[in-house]
Amino acid sequence: MKNFNFRNPTRILFGKGTIADIKDHVPADARVLVLYGGGSAERTGVLAQVRDALSAHTFYEFGGIEPNPRYATALKAVETIREKDVTFVLAVGGGSVIDAGKFIAAAADYDGDPWEILTTRGSVITRAIPFGTVLTLPATGSEMNSGAVITNAEKGAKLPFSSPHCYPTFSVLDPEVTYTLPPRQVANGVVDAFVHTVEQYLTYPVSAFVQDGFAETLLRTLIELGPKALETPDDYDTRANLMWTATMALNGLIGAGVPQDWATHMIGHEITALNDTDHARTLAIVLPSLLNDQRVPKREKLLQYARNVWGIVDGGEEDRIDAAIEATREFFQRMGIKTQLRDYGIAEPEIDQIVTGLQEHGMTALGEYGVIAPEDARRILEAAL
Ligand code: NZQ
Ligand code: ZN
Repeated sequence: MKNFNFRNPTRILFGKGTIADIKDHVPADARVLVLYGGGSAERTGVLAQVRDALSAHTFYEFGGIEPNPRYATALKAVETIREKDVTFVLAVGGGSVIDAGKFIAAAADYDGDPWEILTTRGSVITRAIPFGTVLTLPATGSEMNSGAVITNAEKGAKLPFSSPHCYPTFSVLDPEVTYTLPPRQVANGVVDAFVHTVEQYLTYPVSAFVQDGFAETLLRTLIELGPKALETPDDYDTRANLMWTATMALNGLIGAGVPQDWATHMIGHEITALNDTDHARTLAIVLPSLLNDQRVPKREKLLQYARNVWGIVDGGEEDRIDAAIEATREFFQRMGIKTQLRDYGIAEPEIDQIVTGLQEHGMTALGEYGVIAPEDARRILEAAL
């Protein structure tokens, strides 16, 4: 196992009715800015619950944060923070609203040009306004990690950043608020959490038995419960387990002390920057193709994945690897997600643009060995046409 330094300061308030508890975790004298997205939180009654919980606090609201949140919108929220002298940010929504919340909290407390937060991937951040979250879409893990991804539509760039100052102080996880998710978002969430787990697990072995065992349990849970959430949307235990699985998939625990990949994510971000394809769908396109392409360096872990996640034990090694990759692709399809580039209107010319984007954004040494260059990404994408 590699050395690691692990600390996760986010308090989790989990379960039915827990939105009411935020009143005890936002400082009594705080001036709060409640952030939300395109209106789902209003329609589903989540915002009403938040307003009730904050009835003894001073708070303002800022709605309209887009999926794949936009830099320009986030800067408008920063202006509101300055105008209203806000001291606490509360992001109510999915990964997009929470990611925007992280950027807004850091940018509002940053003296330079906020674009530098993204060009330095967060290393210039030295402080941020404290913020909490109410999660409405289990998927990204943003509710319990320090990372975020912001899109600058004018520059055609979707860039990640992270900072130890960007952990939420608390996150409310009430599985009942996920009953209203459309099937498309349920599927996106399951596939995103699946790929987060794979990117920290399916690399090369370092005798990290706890991390591997946790990761395999998360993957098997997603495989079992993902389709169930589509069939029986109001099943509390299914929703609760999915919600906790998605959080655990990217809160630092399974990634501590192990090599990490993230090539699928970085290639996927370029696809979204190109045509706004849902984040999880880009991953469902890239991952099976990348696993096939990288089957030599990932060989030992692919065989472990085949055995411990899919129960594939018969046949020669190459056959087992083929079967595990095919099972992965079929799982994404069973969740209703298409896995070829052509399904999203992408052909050869767009692959050129994706490869150029990787180059321009410095994504030139991807994967657990840092050897996946843009030209390797081209080969991976061409195999997914
Ligand atoms: O905008 P509203 O109206 O709120 O609707 C949203 C949005 O249209 C809707 N929704 C959310 N909760 C709902 C609901 N609809 C009904 N009922 C509910 N309870 O769902 C739509 C998608 O929401 P979004 O927040 O965009 O989805 P997701 O949580 O999948 O977040 C995706 C973003 O997170 C980034 C992605 O790149 C993408 O920008 N990621 C963030 C990561 C992180 N911070 O660690 C890691 C991930 O790999 C990912 O890159
Ligand atoms: Zn993701």
